[in-house]
Amino acid sequence: MNELAGKHIVLGLSGGVACYKSAELCRALIKEGATVQVVMTEAAAQFITPVTMQALSNRTVYGSQWDAREANNMPHINLSREADAILVAPCSADFIARLAQGRADELLSLLCLARPAQQVPLLLAPAMNREMWAHPATQRNLAQVAQDGATVLAVGNGDQACGETGDGRMLEPAELLEEVIAFFTPKVLAGQKVLVTAGPTFEAIDPVRGITNHSSGKMGFAIARAAREAGAEVTLVAGPVHLPTPRGVHRINVQSAQKMLEAVVPRAQVATVFIATAAVADWRPATQAEQKIKKDGSGQTPVLGFVENPDILATVAQSQHALVGDLFCVGFAAESHDLLAHASAKRERKGVPLLVGNIGPATFGQDDNALLLVDAQGHRELPRASKRALARQLVAEIALRLPVPRV
Ligand code: C5P
Repeated sequence: MNELAGKHIVLGLSGGVACYKSAELCRALIKEGATVQVVMTEAAAQFITPVTMQALSNRTVYGSQWDAREANNMPHINLSREADAILVAPCSADFIARLAQGRADELLSLLCLARPAQQVPLLLAPAMNREMWAHPATQRNLAQVAQDGATVLAVGNGDQACGETGDGRMLEPAELLEEVIAFFTPKVLAGQKVLVTAGPTFEAIDPVRGITNHSSGKMGFAIARAAREAGAEVTLVAGPVHLPTPRGVHRINVQSAQKMLEAVVPRAQVATVFIATAAVADWRPATQAEQKIKKDGSGQTPVLGFVENPDILATVAQSQHALVGDLFCVGFAAESHDLLAHASAKRERKGVPLLVGNIGPATFGQDDNALLLVDAQGHRELPRASKRALARQLVAEIALRLPVPRV
C-alpha cells in the first residue's frame, strides 16, 4: 500500500545479534515506499556487513563521523536534517546508555544528539539479553531517554541467542514496520476507547458441531488496527477466526453470540466508540446436547429448534451510556442488494448514528471491499479498496463525527 511513501528514515544499527533482523526491516521499510539511509556503529559491523545494508538500501552506508564524502564533512548534520525519523534497530544496552548521557564520540549517537528533536523523532527498538534488559541501569537509562523525547518500542519475549529465555528480544521486522507506520499515523482518535466486535459467532449444537458463517473477521481486525494506530485504546472481541491480533490491541476471544454479548456489555460502558463488525448468528440451537448426537442407523434425523440471539449492537446502542451521547455506535450491514435502502432502514432500526453497508458475498473472506456510509445527513461511498485502506478511511470518518470532548 506504500504506507511510508515519501518518508525518509535513518535506520541506525548498534551492536547486537539482532542486526540480522535489520536487513529484513530495511527491505520492509523500502517496500512500503520509504527511503532508508543506514548508519552503523563499529560494533554493528561485527554482526552484519555494511555491504549487505548498502545493497538492500541502495545507498552507501555511513559509519564514521569523519566520513569525508560529505562536502562539509558533517554527516551528523546532513543525515539528521534529511530524516523524517531516526529508528535505531537494534538499540543495544550500551547505545541506550550513550544516548542517556548525550555521548557524541561516534556517528550514530552524534547524529541522534544533533537531530532537531522537534522535527525528527527518535524511535528505539531495544535488543539485548534478558539480564541486561532487567538491570536497573538499563531501565534507568530507558526512562531517561524516554523523558528526553525518544519513543522506546517494546521488546519481545522468548528464546534469546545466548540460549536464555525472557524479555529483551528485538521485535520482529514485521512488528517494527507496524510500529513505524503507527507512529506516522495522525492521532485522530487520541484519548478514545474503542470497542470492536469481529468475525462470526459459533453456535454449538453438541460438543463437536455447530452453526457458523463465512465471516473472516478481516474488516473488523483492520478497523481495530487502524483505530489503535490513530491513538485509541482498542479492545477487540473476536469470534472464532484465524487472524493475528493487531499490535497493541487487547483481544478477547469468544465463540457464541451470548458470550460475545457478555464480553461486550461491561466494556461498552467504559468505551467511547463501539464498532460492531461481527457477523453474529441470528439464531442458536434451542438446546445444546452435552454429548455428541449419534447417528443410530434408524434413518431418523435430529430435530433442531432455534431461539433468537440477542442483538448486541441494538442492546449497546440502547444503553444509557450511548443514549446520553457518551458512546458513538457504528453498525455494519452485509446485504446482497439495494444496499442504500437496507442500510438506511437498518440504521434507524438499530438506533445508531452511523451504519456501514457492504455487499455480503463481495466482502466475506476477501482482502478488499467497498463501503457505503449512511448517517442522519445522507450517505457517502468509499470505493473498492483494500480492507486496510478502507479501515483507515472509516476511522477518519468516525473521528469527524465524534462529539467534541466536554470540559
Ligand atoms: O441485523 P443485522 O445482523 O443485519 O445487523 C448487522 C449489524 O448488527 C452488525 O453491525 C452486527 O455486528 C450487529 N449485530 C449484533 N448482534 C446481532 C446481530 C447483528 O451486534 N445479534
